Amino acid sequence: MALPPLPVDLSGIQLGPGQGLARQLYQALRERILDGRLRGGARLPASRELAALLGVSRNTVTRAFDQLYAEGYVDGRVGAGTYVSELAGAVRPLATPAGGAAATPALQHLATQHLPAPPAGAPRAFRVGVPAFDLFPFETWARLSARVWRRPSPARLGYGDPAGDPRLRELIAAYLRSSRGLACDPAQIVITAGAQQGIGLCARLLVQPGDRVAIEDPGYRAAGHAFAAAGAQLAGIAVDGEGLDTAALERAGACRLVYVTPSHQYPSGVTLSLARRLQLLDWAERHDGWIVEDDYDGEYRYSGTPLTPLAALDRRGRVIYVGTFGKIAFPALRLGYLVLPPALAQPFARRLALDMRHVELGSQAVMAEFIAAGHFQRHIRRMRAAARSRRDALLSGWPQGIPGCAPLPAVEAGLHLCVRVDGMARERALLAAAQRVGVELNGLSRYWLPDGNTPADARAGLVLGFAAVPEAEIARALAALREAWSGES
Ligand SMILES: Cc1ncc(COP(=O)(O)O)c(C=O)c1O
Repeated sequence: MALPPLPVDLSGIQLGPGQGLARQLYQALRERILDGRLRGGARLPASRELAALLGVSRNTVTRAFDQLYAEGYVDGRVGAGTYVSELAGAVRPLATPAGGAAATPALQHLATQHLPAPPAGAPRAFRVGVPAFDLFPFETWARLSARVWRRPSPARLGYGDPAGDPRLRELIAAYLRSSRGLACDPAQIVITAGAQQGIGLCARLLVQPGDRVAIEDPGYRAAGHAFAAAGAQLAGIAVDGEGLDTAALERAGACRLVYVTPSHQYPSGVTLSLARRLQLLDWAERHDGWIVEDDYDGEYRYSGTPLTPLAALDRRGRVIYVGTFGKIAFPALRLGYLVLPPALAQPFARRLALDMRHVELGSQAVMAEFIAAGHFQRHIRRMRAAARSRRDALLSGWPQGIPGCAPLPAVEAGLHLCVRVDGMARERALLAAAQRVGVELNGLSRYWLPDGNTPADARAGLVLGFAAVPEAEIARALAALREAWSGES
């Protein structure tokens, strides 16, 4: 059906039988945003207007808009319409490769499956995913770094072990034994450039194109993208008060691998119960499946003892444990590790060598010294205490009685919390008002798989990181929110 002239060019949108109408409309709009036909800043027609033009229900258009919004393709300015995000323009070149060359499937895939641009600038309240940079002992790090580089041994300046610095691997093994009850041999450890690289290696080595991979929904979308880029079909598995729903995993049919965040589910914050841990291991044994256990913020536990990692309970060599220094030091360091079943350690190191030979020597050597000299343990204690106190500042100063917003949950672990709100309209309104006063919040809707069955309104919520800035800044941001949200009833 041809459309009459509109403020933006939506000509050629055809909705027909087959996939759901909302899905078709979402795809048609996304395609136009990615190839530049819809430019950043362009205002989309109102949902009622577009529904009438396309001959579909308004609900269909709202669902398509909600999905575009959740994935960052459009911004909702409350009361002022839906606008194409400036951010989305950045992906355009990948959809239409320069010189008119035919895009490979891998290039095409990256037009839609990619990491969102990171938030710009120094952390503000309530940035998600970053720890307290202000507490990192940079003096100590600089001193250790100078020592490593002042007179480096020529024997270490060529290519190193692809699995990583042997001393660092020994220290990590000792640390995991004492802090997590995870007994492993240093030979099982591969040093990576952060957790994301570890997840990417699992995707490339354990998954074949067409395999189904189960991921938490809502969950860490970057992990899903890594598996999808390896050709996996993603199966979103619901998360409830005990973590990943293992009964839903069984119902999902044959999956090659499941990716989980057991110690602090991302982003809901739930801890995977012991019963579920055992069921998950049982699932892996029965299905010959792999479990990728991402313990991205396991250092941050404020009460009770941490549950034993899946990797420590695993008797059949089915669990790959992913760790990172990004949440204790800082993400830009790009340093993490995998603990692998013994048979996988060498193949993983060989694959990593094909990409990068090995992780850069300097940060590995400095981190080894940082741990060996006791700075790491001291810093963990300091970071944990600071994160707890920043959490308390958020919990105690949170505005009461925000219409449509559930009470804040108890927060016993991690660096962020997640609170449900009553529907997408509410999420947009709260985010837009926060943005106007310079407070950074994430919408929970951004953490869901696009194709899941969860209705749009049940995906709504707010995700707040509480550790990035000191208490006084948290208090200022809360005062600004209180003011901004007071008119949002
Ligand atoms: C669940 C989860 N896993 C992994 C990572 C990435 O860690 P890294 O920076 O070490 O790649 C993040 C970062 O926010 C995360 O939230």
